[in-house]
Amino acid sequence: MWKGLVHEYREFLPVTDETPIVSLNEGNTPLIPLLHLPKRFGIEAKWYVKYEGLNPTGSFKDRGMAMAITKAKEKGAKIVMCASTGNTSAAAAAYATRAGMACCVIIPEGKIALGKLAQAMMHGATVLQIKGNFDDALNTVIEITKKYPVELVNSINPYRIEGQKTGAFEIIDALGDAPDFHSIPVGNAGNITAYWKGYTEFFDLKRATKRPKMMGFQAAGSAPIVLGHPVKNPETIATAIRIGNPASWKQAEAARDESGGLIESVTDEEITEAQQLLAGLEGVFCEPASAASIAGIIKKCSSMSFGKDKVIVSVLTGNGLKDPNRAIEISPKPIGVDNNLTSILKHLESHF
Ligand code: F0G
Repeated sequence: MWKGLVHEYREFLPVTDETPIVSLNEGNTPLIPLLHLPKRFGIEAKWYVKYEGLNPTGSFKDRGMAMAITKAKEKGAKIVMCASTGNTSAAAAAYATRAGMACCVIIPEGKIALGKLAQAMMHGATVLQIKGNFDDALNTVIEITKKYPVELVNSINPYRIEGQKTGAFEIIDALGDAPDFHSIPVGNAGNITAYWKGYTEFFDLKRATKRPKMMGFQAAGSAPIVLGHPVKNPETIATAIRIGNPASWKQAEAARDESGGLIESVTDEEITEAQQLLAGLEGVFCEPASAASIAGIIKKCSSMSFGKDKVIVSVLTGNGLKDPNRAIEISPKPIGVDNNLTSILKHLESHF
């Protein structure tokens, strides 16, 4: 039985036999081949999605949180804290509960997808909303955790990156080698940093013969790395990556430059179209921010060569169920019908 990533990849992680591993059996998420999208856009490469929405709390954050809470527990911490656009708070709340610790999360008021808010509340976290954005919240959390005995579990905590790098290990283990291109949404830039670290470690250990070009995508209204300066009032419908001053900015640039990759932006329209295409053509439902990694490949496919000997992996960072309001807003509404065969069959006839 799969026992969670800290256990499974322990030889590559900072744990000992005495470390009290906190786990919800996260990781081991499927790498799903796309069947229809590549054809639609004339992409000959094999294109896979790493469906991180199937982690226990529905996002990739469980990887980093399993490791960060494990180390917090080892240290004897009583309370953890994070700033969040939603998913980190859901994961922190769940793993802190599992470990018997208290959890406090600071979120930007009104800018959290409903599913994520529900999770933090159900797991009993102290949920504090500020009239400010993620960047403001993170600054406050840094200040508090410096002064008080509270463990910070945002991705500036190095154990978060350690846990998240296992996503790259799983991809290499599943494919037998690293892909040629790795596309990923960029918000606070921890995940692109973590994947690059994971790919590099397995390459150095000769478990992979190459490292992918890292292709990071920010939302156009929240694209500080693309613009080259912080964005004071970031905006995007992809609330998970509504971040104007990423903490791992330098590391993201290093991943881009060392891999010969790129960090570019995609518009809210492109993100929405990608989310709809993935759900409507492939049967895979991801949240808006995650669709940035699909939108990015679609945007680049005419200028870059994704030939048939190449492999692309796009990370779907969070489950579509996290943000039901947005999904309902962009989809055709349910059709009201009378409760009889004639009225119902009218809507099926075109398929007969
Ligand atoms: N995709 C999703 C679904 C996210 O929740 C996040 C970040 C990202 C992508 C970007 O990852 O920050 O490592 O570059 N969410 C954080 C949060 C900020 O608070 O849940 P990143």
